[in-house]
Amino acid sequence: MQPNLSFEQAPPIGVPYRFFLTAPWFGVAAGLLLAFMGEEMLASRWTPGALAGTHLLVTGFMLQAMCGALLQFVPVATGGNIWQPQRVAAWVHPLLIIAAGLLVAAFLTQRPVLFMAASAGFAVSLGFYGVVVSLALWRTPAQGASIVALRIALLGLLATTGLGVTLAFGLAYQTTLPLLALTDVHAAWGLGGWGLILLAGIAYFVVPMFQLTPAYPGWLARGVPLLLLALLLVWSLQLFGLPDGARELVWLGGLGTAGLFGGTTLYLQSRRRRKVSDTTLLFFRVAMVCLVVLLFSAMLFAALPEIGNDPRAVVWLGMLAIVGVFVTAINGMLYKIVPFLNWLHLQRLCGLETLPPTMNQMIPERSMRRQFYLHLAALAFLLAAVWLPSLARPAGLLFALDCAWLGLNLVGALRIYVRFKNRIRAAA
Ligand code: HEM
Repeated sequence: MQPNLSFEQAPPIGVPYRFFLTAPWFGVAAGLLLAFMGEEMLASRWTPGALAGTHLLVTGFMLQAMCGALLQFVPVATGGNIWQPQRVAAWVHPLLIIAAGLLVAAFLTQRPVLFMAASAGFAVSLGFYGVVVSLALWRTPAQGASIVALRIALLGLLATTGLGVTLAFGLAYQTTLPLLALTDVHAAWGLGGWGLILLAGIAYFVVPMFQLTPAYPGWLARGVPLLLLALLLVWSLQLFGLPDGARELVWLGGLGTAGLFGGTTLYLQSRRRRKVSDTTLLFFRVAMVCLVVLLFSAMLFAALPEIGNDPRAVVWLGMLAIVGVFVTAINGMLYKIVPFLNWLHLQRLCGLETLPPTMNQMIPERSMRRQFYLHLAALAFLLAAVWLPSLARPAGLLFALDCAWLGLNLVGALRIYVRFKNRIRAAA
């Protein structure tokens, strides 16, 4: 697929930036929560701390970054016309922060009123956001694997939200809903249907463009989102009963598809035309390696039930997926998108008289690289802490520092933007 970008359609810079600048601080909160709660948080997927930490990352870090990225990506890369992006951002951004905060408080205190308030916040904000972005994606005349993937991802977001709200209702009112099956279906739609398909849809576009790799093979680019969608639909049948054998097959099939996408991306990156490895590329590579390790871990757990049945096995998979794949990939993408948007908007303001700072000056490469190493250390500690509980608190602290550094690097880029913009205005 040849990227065809229409930058004149880009929304004002504040639209994506408010989401991007918020995301890392949810990661800081998740790290501090682990540092505070320690090993009990990682003992199983069902501890209040694990559920709260999971949602600080998925509805805080991931959702903020991904919602902001789509508001930029849909108009620029797909030509989709988003209705009043400034107004959408001004409503959705604060509502998402409040809803995520309420949901985390609900998990930690188990108070029904907090579950219901969080659900209302998500239903309104994500319902509104989902409809506006879906309309833009449906009306665009553009075609291609990315568009198909983005449409499925949006469906995934709406399904995840609906299932999450149902679960919250079930927990608040002690209903007879099949909570275990609902949680598994909700988690799969959230991480697979929304997170992974969105990541793939954006990667089809940005990996060849920014990392100068060959394009993804057409069959794979179209096949991965469609296959994941089909598997998710079968997986959802467990709400009505699905034999254990079929469940395991779908589970491994889903992770196999994810691993195929990760493995192909690594292969394409190894064939890139420009051999210099910038920090964004390194982040993206680590994310793809984690995707492949996720597949092998699941296969190992299936083959050795004595390890696979340990409650910590699912925590390991969750950590690999959420921190290893998503937080890592988003971190790398932010380091590409933010300097680029700074440059793009400043260059428009400058006209022909002045030159804006280069992209490399927006966030110093040395600072990004050091934060990358800290991120690797934090990820290694978090993964090790699943099996060695004494590492939980240091891992939490390292992760909090890692995300804070990312946050500060982004704030630094914003300050350069504002300073330069003021200088242009003063000169004019
Ligand atoms: C939008 C992205 C979301 C993603 C990726 C996501 C992901 C997940 C995951 C992975 C789990 C399983 C956690 C574990 O096993 O430890 C889970 C559970 C849960 N999620 Fe979400 N979630 C999302 C949004 C929401 C929303 C919007 C709500 C509610 C308003 C919600 C409510 C819940 C509840 C109540 C549980 C399970 C609680 C239990 O059975 O104890 N989630 N979610």
